[in-house]
Amino acid sequence: MNKIGIGALAACALACLPAPAFAAPPAATAASDTDAQAAAKAARMQWFADAKFGIFIHYGIYDVDGVEESWSFFDEKIPYADYMQQLKGFTAAHYDPQAWADLIKASGAKYAVLTSKHHDGVALWETKQGLNVVKDTPAHRDLVAPFVKALRKDGLKVGLYYSLIDWSSPDYPAFTKTRTRYEIKNDPARWNRFVVYYQSQLRDLMDRYNPDLYWFDGGWEHSAAEWHSRQTRDMIFAHNPNAIINSRLPGYGDYGTPEQGVPIRRPPDKYWELCMTINNSWGWQPQDHDFKTPYEIIRILSDTLGMGGNLLLDIGPRADGTIPQEEVSTLKEIGRWVRKNSQAIYGSRAGIPKDYYYGDSTLSKDGRTLYLFVTGRPNGPLLVKGLQNHVLAARVLGSDLPVKAHLSGKWSSTGAPGLLYIDVPDAALDPEVSVVALQLDGPIKLFHEDMKPITSN
Ligand code: GLC
Repeated sequence: MNKIGIGALAACALACLPAPAFAAPPAATAASDTDAQAAAKAARMQWFADAKFGIFIHYGIYDVDGVEESWSFFDEKIPYADYMQQLKGFTAAHYDPQAWADLIKASGAKYAVLTSKHHDGVALWETKQGLNVVKDTPAHRDLVAPFVKALRKDGLKVGLYYSLIDWSSPDYPAFTKTRTRYEIKNDPARWNRFVVYYQSQLRDLMDRYNPDLYWFDGGWEHSAAEWHSRQTRDMIFAHNPNAIINSRLPGYGDYGTPEQGVPIRRPPDKYWELCMTINNSWGWQPQDHDFKTPYEIIRILSDTLGMGGNLLLDIGPRADGTIPQEEVSTLKEIGRWVRKNSQAIYGSRAGIPKDYYYGDSTLSKDGRTLYLFVTGRPNGPLLVKGLQNHVLAARVLGSDLPVKAHLSGKWSSTGAPGLLYIDVPDAALDPEVSVVALQLDGPIKLFHEDMKPITSN
């Protein structure tokens, strides 16, 4: 523990954290949003904003042959009939929803999102409206209910993925990339039948499972007006005013969903969640062994946290319900790291711009603790620039070894605080990513005046 005095400088009176240099301003809330609405939304979003890490599960008949979920027939890589043959092989013989939930909990995730129905239209519960694993596969049972129950038992929040698109429904316009059943403008009654169909399925999901989070997908094929998005959102809120809806319900979602690519800069949405596969496939594909390492995922997670987002990491169980060993061991290693560094993760907010610390960082909610993420083995002290606070204590999370820090280069006439150097002992480093916590004397204040060249003394 070290005490370091960093003089607050008169020239820098601004007390609050500047908008990070790398951050685009948060997207303006709709003009009609009042402060009260914004506060209500913030309260509704709180668990999600604090959770930071979730597990996505793609599970469906596409796992029988290990083909790409839904897209394999839509893109005409295999005939629709062959794809649907997989119904016959979907047994879920070793499906153990409590083991899934326990693994998710062990990974440090606070919520999970299960594909209740993908674009192929095959529901994992006994929907009255269409194809489902209870009626149409040898699994012959509802696979959603026991998983929801297991998640809740483990204190995890429940998200259900639901594809608005349903390429199997006779009332849905698109069938494959070259075959369209009809156009809405030529047969609005048929489209309306589809809207009733999908909204009835949703009502069923609400009544049966009351998910905390509705993870829509496929909205891109139609407009918000065509989907009756507003009506759908109102229906969800009428049932559960605390539900959260992702932005793939066109026009009416609560948070942005960048996919696969880690954003370079902070996305414009106030709330956002990066969804990403653990290898290169959403569902189980036997030839795909290109698994990301725990280190790579932890770096993606810390990068995401540093920009104020959540990571939704996708795994793909086999058709029998078993989870590949590579995925199990990676989730456990992530869990080890998340538990060790939990205070820098859960409930954190975006860190400081990279101009101040050349790495990822987060802040505690009160802004009084700055967490610096350290990758690899630094070849010298860490450097933080422009920090106007006194640092009351510095430590590496999960270690008691003393961390030395000192200020250098303080030159008051420029107004800039000195350079803060932090020596992290080698023995305190984590094999993946280490986290250094700086306890500050108050809410963080960063120096952000432009420096003027000195032309004369
Ligand atoms: C895309 C794909 C889909 C996948 C989803 C997950 O939207 O259509 O197959 O389920 O991403 O985010």
